[in-house]
Amino acid sequence: MSDELLFVNVRQVVTCAGPARARRGAEMDDAAVREGVAVHVRGDAIVGVAHEAELRASAPGATLVDCELGVLTPGFVDSHTHAVFGRARYEEQELRATGMPYMEIARRGGGIHASVRDLRARSEDELFALAAPRLGALAASGVTTVEVKSGYGLSLDDELKTLRVIRHLADALPMRVVPTWLGAHEIPLEYRDRENGRREYVDRLVHEMLPAVVAERLARFADVFCEPGVFTVEESREILSAARDAGMGIKLHADELSAGGGAELAGALGATSADHLAAISEAGIRALAAGGTVATLLPATLLFLGKRDHAPARRLIDAGVPVALATDFNPGTSPTTNFPLVLTLGVSQLRLRVAEALVAATVNGAAALGLADRVGQVAPGFSADLALWAIDDVRELPYWLGAGRCRASWTRGKPCHPRDLGLAFSR
Ligand code: NIG
Ligand code: FE
Repeated sequence: MSDELLFVNVRQVVTCAGPARARRGAEMDDAAVREGVAVHVRGDAIVGVAHEAELRASAPGATLVDCELGVLTPGFVDSHTHAVFGRARYEEQELRATGMPYMEIARRGGGIHASVRDLRARSEDELFALAAPRLGALAASGVTTVEVKSGYGLSLDDELKTLRVIRHLADALPMRVVPTWLGAHEIPLEYRDRENGRREYVDRLVHEMLPAVVAERLARFADVFCEPGVFTVEESREILSAARDAGMGIKLHADELSAGGGAELAGALGATSADHLAAISEAGIRALAAGGTVATLLPATLLFLGKRDHAPARRLIDAGVPVALATDFNPGTSPTTNFPLVLTLGVSQLRLRVAEALVAATVNGAAALGLADRVGQVAPGFSADLALWAIDDVRELPYWLGAGRCRASWTRGKPCHPRDLGLAFSR
């Protein structure tokens, strides 16, 4: 069989074509939607986007993919997830609803600590079996590249175990999987009551865990939960500087609950992305713009936590900060694999224009993973990462609140929708 595909009978192709880097300001307001065109894929790459008749004539041997007058988009890039975890944490939702804050649940040993206890008790195989269908559910919602963080292990063995699960997912699934080491997700409980416990854990992160992660080449990025009550700005600087010196890209969970200087640090370090940012300060916004750092906004987290104050997406865009959107899929604050829901929240809550939300989910998500030179556009030379939607107009993507209208998805020209892989959905 030919390794060429021709996507025909497409109503609209959202190409996001343009510069192969993060888009900022007015650049974000153009998703380069085209009509009357087909898309030609050879092997793992897009080789042509042109009028259908022209491509049919130039690629007579290609296998036709009938898009049934749907909309074709770049596959979405979910640049922030914590998809490797054990059990769901539904008991915390009611606790928060009845008045116990997220940080108080953590102080009492729940929250991230609950997921840590759970993950430590599970084997690599068990964690893989739980995570694979979750990534399948993301692929079924149009995601073709997914970043997955560790961070529920918090010991050398359990962080390495988690990162090996992520590597196994990357090898076994057709999706593109980008691994991030988040050993600095929380100070583990066993260090909390020791006199120098914090210091000891930061030393372990820098001198024991980081070298082991680097030696096994298990992660492309290092991330820190930089937040008052978790890791301080100074601790975050120490951990991330060491990671950067070891050749890793850097990311931060910053200013999620309060403005503590996390965005300022991200900008100063030239981090690839700073994520959350619901409480970012004006100085933080200026720092991200100066550092060329992508602001990854996670509106599903605020929805789930019942918070009203979303990140200031418009002010970020106006200040020239490239904005990305992601799910933050995790068992504590964002138990969703529904990427189109994030687009809905991007438009309805963050007040993005539809084109801005689409660019945030594709080109800028790719930039948040250092992949903007090959991922996020339907354009010649880019990876054949595509999602097909049963809609008539691209504006229906954020419109059908919570609906799953993704009919198929491909990464590197290979099907990755669970329906095409015979994968079960997670339960
Ligand atoms: O991105 N903020 C820190 N980490 C996750 C939540 C982790 C959890 O509660 O399990 C987040 O929201
Ligand atoms: Fe997160």
